[in-house]
Amino acid sequence: RLPDSVTIVEVGPRDGLQNEKQTIPTEVKVELIHRLGHAGLKVIEATSFVSPKWVPQLADSADVLQQINRHPDVRYPVLTPNMKGLQRALEAGAEEVAIFAAASETFSRRNTNCSIDESMKRFTDICQAAKEARVQVRGYVSCAVGCPYEGQVAPAAAADVAARLYELGCYEVSMGDTNGVGTPATVAAMFQACTKALPVKALAAHMHDTYGQGCANVLTALQMGVSVVDTSVAGLGGCPYSPGAQGNVATEDVVYMLSGFGIHHGVDLDKLVDASAFICGALKRDTMANVSQAMLAA
Ligand code: HMG
Ligand code: MG
Repeated sequence: RLPDSVTIVEVGPRDGLQNEKQTIPTEVKVELIHRLGHAGLKVIEATSFVSPKWVPQLADSADVLQQINRHPDVRYPVLTPNMKGLQRALEAGAEEVAIFAAASETFSRRNTNCSIDESMKRFTDICQAAKEARVQVRGYVSCAVGCPYEGQVAPAAAADVAARLYELGCYEVSMGDTNGVGTPATVAAMFQACTKALPVKALAAHMHDTYGQGCANVLTALQMGVSVVDTSVAGLGGCPYSPGAQGNVATEDVVYMLSGFGIHHGVDLDKLVDASAFICGALKRDTMANVSQAMLAA
């Protein structure tokens, strides 16, 4: 049975823009976030407070967060890899943060320069400090299905990291198919393991579309009771430390699919396509969203 309503977490301004080679002006990022809010998205991951040496594209995170005209009904989570990131995020006025772990040791080291166990120590401190600051923490598990360095990842390994993040206090844990290698079969096996380890209400699906399985994988997650889905406008995205990974499943494509089922999502597709055209124009690239291509051609 599919959920009646799905929450879309728009990750384009963060996952999308972190992977662009070109420098993107702060005002373009801010305008994109405004347009996404205007389209009805209620959770917009705005930026990352990571090391600017590691991700120079998001070095202006404090400016982005401070320049957004925040809508009272919209949440703007930001990524924080360590206490330094949390402190910078809080100073810039973040009201929600996200921590990111990996189900593969090699990816954990390549992406955050520490082992999985070391990352959990960092996250314990972040969760404690965030609680004191009354800031909600979302969790990510990267390489929940496969790893660009280690290949296939066992469902139990992904579920174990998800459970650890949940126990640390993450209200939600988003399972990431970082390099988009999953299929409905492997995604189902991963979520099956996860639903044994934590409540399905606390799980989200974060699917990249490298092999064109994004929408099918999202539908698989919905069929397993997951009702929170991460997507990226225009299908932008990828992780600089996941070679070859393509963008997230496109917000436009997921919104269109949800509408087909009559599932409530709260997004105005025309305004979303406008936001998509805006960022693609600014980046001088074509949209990767099939729905935007179709609607702009019609
Ligand atoms: P490190 O080099 O080990 O850090 O990086 P360090 O603690 O040794 O510090 C080195 C220098 O960086 C110091 O400066 C620190 O102050 C500075 P120096 O003394 O040399 O001038 N520094 C910072 N500056 C600003 N903000 C900070 C910060 N931390 C340290 N927060 C670190 C460790 C975790 C910082 C680094 O590895 C990092 O930033 N990694 C993030 C990589 C990243 O953003 N990846 C993409 C996001 S994850 C993703 O895309 C997957 C996801 O979408 C889900 C999925 O698809 O699966 C979420
Ligand atoms: Mg991602």
